[in-house]
Amino acid sequence: MGRRRILILLAIGVSALLIVGAAAAMAQHEDAANEVDEDEFTHDTEDLPVEPPTDQSHPGTEYLEQEGDTEEKIELGEQLYFDPRISETGTISCNTCHNVMEGGDDSRPIAMGVGGHTGPVASPTVWNSGFHHTQFWDGRADTLAEQAEGPIVADVEMGMPDHEAALDRVRGVDDYVESYEEVYGDEVDDPDDLEELISLENTVDAIAAYERTLNTPNSPYDQYVQGDEDALTDQQLDGMETFQDLGCQSCHSGPMFSGQWDEPESGEGVYQPHPTFEDNPQCEEYVEEYDLMDNPGRMGVTDDESDEFMYKVPTLRNVEHTAPYMHTGQVPDLEEAVRVMAACSLDEDPSDEEVEDVTAFLTSLTGEYPEQDMPQLPNPSGESMVPMDAGTEFEPIEEEQDENGDDANGDDANGDDVDEGDSIPGMTLGAAVLALAMATAAALVGYSRRLNE
Ligand code: HEC
Ligand code: HEC
Repeated sequence: MGRRRILILLAIGVSALLIVGAAAAMAQHEDAANEVDEDEFTHDTEDLPVEPPTDQSHPGTEYLEQEGDTEEKIELGEQLYFDPRISETGTISCNTCHNVMEGGDDSRPIAMGVGGHTGPVASPTVWNSGFHHTQFWDGRADTLAEQAEGPIVADVEMGMPDHEAALDRVRGVDDYVESYEEVYGDEVDDPDDLEELISLENTVDAIAAYERTLNTPNSPYDQYVQGDEDALTDQQLDGMETFQDLGCQSCHSGPMFSGQWDEPESGEGVYQPHPTFEDNPQCEEYVEEYDLMDNPGRMGVTDDESDEFMYKVPTLRNVEHTAPYMHTGQVPDLEEAVRVMAACSLDEDPSDEEVEDVTAFLTSLTGEYPEQDMPQLPNPSGESMVPMDAGTEFEPIEEEQDENGDDANGDDANGDDVDEGDSIPGMTLGAAVLALAMATAAALVGYSRRLNE
């Protein structure tokens, strides 16, 4: 009996110790959440079948968390991100060009904003953009918040005449006012002063907090780096080897494959020339075909000639989902992008098989997209957030049309190629032929009946 009681006491004692120990460990983990331990995403990769270009897996969303990134702020930022009503025409939101229901871009060569107006470059993905040291292809904004000020007033994006006009629309919606009060009420002198509460600073701060949650960890590549030898296919492993043999990781390094990640939003960008080998004959063709030297690159920001054709090294995470490629968005598919890079950045001419392998490897960088719910947007009661006359000053797109409705390219309004016979619309012509055929058939049937009688 005595022995049994001792055993029971011992069991209780051990359980209690285990519980206390676990609780302490959890508390420590919570403490560490904001200053992430690099050991958590740095791994021993030497014994893996092919040593990967980095020994770090995706550092996870915790790495980007900033003080004050509360659930309420992130939710407000998400609403603003999805709200097309803060664009001049009420039609274009951040999500129009950076669609988080897919690769975080717009699948277009160059972006199209209000009134169908297009800008000079392609929309980069917003997924993992919180890891960038600088924003934009040429790095002209340091932080996500600074970046977000641009599109609201860019006339080829959301097209508002000025920031105040956009903010006034937000200030007019009670539910938005309430959310701003909840998130920023304590930080402003007078929460009833709507101009102070719903300021540009607070607006882009909330959008940035939401964007910092848009991360895609746990790709097959990450699983491999963490030690799962079977996470990659044989072809992906071959491609990983070729990626390194060619030298791609000399620029696309680090866990984001962008050469820059460990000081997010620091303003210290990593820029590389593109093309480097413009005299490579293959590269010359690519430059011509894909307009690769039509823009000044970072020189447009610094005015410094040595920055001509310099670009921020883009992340390769989820790159299979962000075609078309390069800042001009003219390179149609991923294999071609690999060929362009090999010729123009490395003076290499990989075989078709090597290109296919590298492409297969790049698909292993596609991570888990966190699920996005379409937010319900705050709505004024009985009236529209978009004024009745909004966007009326935009020139209609058919400005260049001649009297046939053809534009200068000989396309009709649908972008279809048309020829001179276009003045009889296809549908009408088809219907007329069909009607004629039926009338003829009916007449023939009637005629043959009459003959039989
Ligand atoms: C009309 C399409 C369009 C709209 C609307 C738009 N963007 Fe962009 N975005 C772009 C283009 C194009 C670029 C690249 C411009 C450049 O580099 O010069 C870009 C760049 C960015 C970048 C930088 C990413 C990187 O890799 O450097 C971020 C982040 C971003 N946009 C977020 C936003 C947010 C937030 C909004 C809404 C406030 C928004 N965008 C609205 C087209 C758009
Ligand atoms: C010298 C530095 C450098 C090297 C080496 C390099 N890249 Fe790049 N990469 C860049 C830069 C800079 C860009 C952006 C160029 C542009 O938009 O014009 C880029 C763009 C890309 C893109 C398009 C990304 C997008 O979102 O449009 C892919 C894909 C890519 N690189 C893959 C590779 C591969 C594969 C290799 C090896 C064969 C490689 N890169 C070698 C610097 C480099």
